Amino acid sequence: MEDVQHVELELCADGTHTLFVPALEEHYHSTRGAVQESLYVYIERGLQHCAENPCTVLEVGFGTGLNALLSAIYAIEHNRNVHFVSYEKFPLAPEIATQLNYADFVETQYAPLLAKIHRAAWNEVIEITPQFTLHKIHSDLTLLPPLIPCNLIYYDAFAPGKQPEMWSEKLLSHVCSALQANGFLVTYCAQGQVRRTLKSFGLHIERLPGPPGKWEMLRATKIMDI
Ligand SMILES: C[S@@+](CC[C@H](N)C(=O)[O-])C[C@H]1O[C@@H](n2cnc3c(N)ncnc32)[C@H](O)[C@@H]1O
Repeated sequence: MEDVQHVELELCADGTHTLFVPALEEHYHSTRGAVQESLYVYIERGLQHCAENPCTVLEVGFGTGLNALLSAIYAIEHNRNVHFVSYEKFPLAPEIATQLNYADFVETQYAPLLAKIHRAAWNEVIEITPQFTLHKIHSDLTLLPPLIPCNLIYYDAFAPGKQPEMWSEKLLSHVCSALQANGFLVTYCAQGQVRRTLKSFGLHIERLPGPPGKWEMLRATKIMDI
C-alpha cells in the first residue's frame, strides 16, 4: 500500500469525524456517520449480542479507536467485563488522533476515555476502566500473528475492493480460528465472496440489515459442537 499512512480528517454527515486515505480512495467509516455506523454494526449487532461475560473482543484495524471507545462505554454502562485486543499496522500520528471529535458525541463523563485509549501503550495490556482492558497490538495481520482465543471479532478492515489482502481466505481463516465456541464475527461488509468464504469455514451466516446507507451487514457464528 503506497502512502497509506497519509490520512485526511473529514466530517461525516452526522458531524462525527472520519479519516480519508487518498492512496486507497477510501474512508475509515461510512461518510453518513462514523459513530452511527460503529454503534450499529459493532455494538448493537456485536457486543450487545454477545452473552459471554467476561468477553474477549478481537478487532481487525484499531484506526481511530472509535470501536474501542464505544465498547468501553458499553462495558461500563452494562457492567460487562471486556478485554479488547486490537491489531493495527499503521497507528495514527498523535496529531491526528487528538483532533478526532468523538468525545463531543458521548456523555460528558466518558469524554476523557478516547484520549486514554489513544495514550495507552502499544503491545501492553492496559486497564482503561475496571470493566475494560485494552491490548493494542502494533502488527501486520497479513503476517498471521498468533491470536488469543476470543468471543467476538470486529472485522473492520478497508473494503475488499481496496485492500483485498485483508479479506483473503488465509487471513479470514486465521482470524476466525481464534473464535471460541459460540463466538461470532461482525462486519459492515456483506460482499458475496466474503460471505461464501466465511460459510466454507462452517460458520453460520446471518445477513442483517445494514446501518444507514448500507443494505446489509454480516454476522458469522461458530456454532458450538454438540
Ligand atoms: C476501515 S479502517 C477502521 C479502523 C477502526 N476500526 C476505526 O473505527 O477507526 C481499517 C484499519 O485497518 C488498518 N490496517 C490496514 N492494513 C492492516 C494490516 N495489514 N494489519 C492490521 N491493520 C491493518 C488500517 O490502518 C485502518 O486503521
